[in-house]
Amino acid sequence: MGAERRGDEGEAAGDEPRVRFSRRVPGSLAANRLTRSLDEARRRGRHVLDLTVSNPSRVGIAYADGLLAGLANPRGTSYRPEAFGQLDARRAVAGDYARRGIIVDADDIVLTASTSEAYSLLFKVLCDPGDEVLVPAPSYPLFEHLARLDGVSIRPYGLAYDGHWGVAWDSVERAATPRTRAVMLVSPNNPTGSFVRHDDWRRWRDLAMARRWAVIADEVFCDYPLDPAPDHVACVLAANPGPAPLTVALGGLSKSVGLPSAKLGWMAMAGEPGTVAAARARLEIVCDTYLSVATPVQLALPGLLRDGAAVRAQIRERLGGNLAWLRGHLAGVAVATLLETEGGWSAVVRVPAVVPEDDLVVRLLEEHDVLVHPGYFFDFAHEAFLVTSLLPDPAVLSTAWGRITGCLNRLG
Ligand SMILES: Cc1ncc(COP(=O)(O)O)c(C=O)c1O
Repeated sequence: MGAERRGDEGEAAGDEPRVRFSRRVPGSLAANRLTRSLDEARRRGRHVLDLTVSNPSRVGIAYADGLLAGLANPRGTSYRPEAFGQLDARRAVAGDYARRGIIVDADDIVLTASTSEAYSLLFKVLCDPGDEVLVPAPSYPLFEHLARLDGVSIRPYGLAYDGHWGVAWDSVERAATPRTRAVMLVSPNNPTGSFVRHDDWRRWRDLAMARRWAVIADEVFCDYPLDPAPDHVACVLAANPGPAPLTVALGGLSKSVGLPSAKLGWMAMAGEPGTVAAARARLEIVCDTYLSVATPVQLALPGLLRDGAAVRAQIRERLGGNLAWLRGHLAGVAVATLLETEGGWSAVVRVPAVVPEDDLVVRLLEEHDVLVHPGYFFDFAHEAFLVTSLLPDPAVLSTAWGRITGCLNRLG
């Protein structure tokens, strides 16, 4: 997908490795142009304002001193492996769904080390090498890597914007093939911030049932609604009455309580009981092979989910404040348009396509010390877009956007 599109030539001549490597990892390991410019700026000691930050622990959010105290629980030295994670920890995740008004049985929850790992486990269970999954475009660039590491191909379907984001259904038909095994929905999506809508969800459900696809619903940002449309689906598990395909919702501590360092994610399954049982039996084999979730974090999980609410509240306040500021700022700027953002940690700004996105972001970095993602990193259908994180310290966001709009005004 996009992030690689402008990658470079590959390994230098003369460095021919003496072994052959798998095609699961990219052949080209060279840094792209923006990364090279960033390395150069840092080497020169420039102070770069970072609008690409997605790590909440680097943006001045306060974490209570005792937040991780539960990791030192003495019971953590006793190892009792359980493929899906300890029951108390799975009950804590079920309790967290209940906080959002969603009933999930702890038996339908599987703990993982991260959402990224959950994808890998699901690909192993659902796909043979060469099988395909449908992914939204634009969306999170890591999906292509995650799929490829498991020998799976992604087939993008389009999200189109006409004042709000919706599924371009003709692109779904073009993307689907007999090798399609699953469709991924990301709600709210990164970076468009769009939630799945009820009409679209009904259509996905019918299609997945008819074609025997699983639905993987990435809801890592569901705790961060900003301005959701009235017909948005808050959680696909709750919008699943009647016959439903195998639906696996994904979440994790990295986003829900801003703790990527804790390395804990989860899947919650729903669907026709026989199919869920068949999936559970297969997942058990895979999870039992790796047993990747550490005991201390499982023991600490109830406390992390409870006390992490304070971190989530700060992140929400940060996102809401930054979005309001950006809206106000861009309202007075003719050359930049903020697209509707329903939720999540980022926002998309349309800018004039007078220079290629790649040139623009490198110029913003080299001449204005601002790092911002170009739309093509996320596979937008056309140029020109900038994707900004809404997490930065408000002073960083406003200074950086002041410089960007100044630069755009001179270009436009
Ligand atoms: C849409 C989406 N899914 C999954 C992830 C990865 O989450 P985790 O840290 O739990 O692996 C991210 C990270 O930014 C993301 O944007």
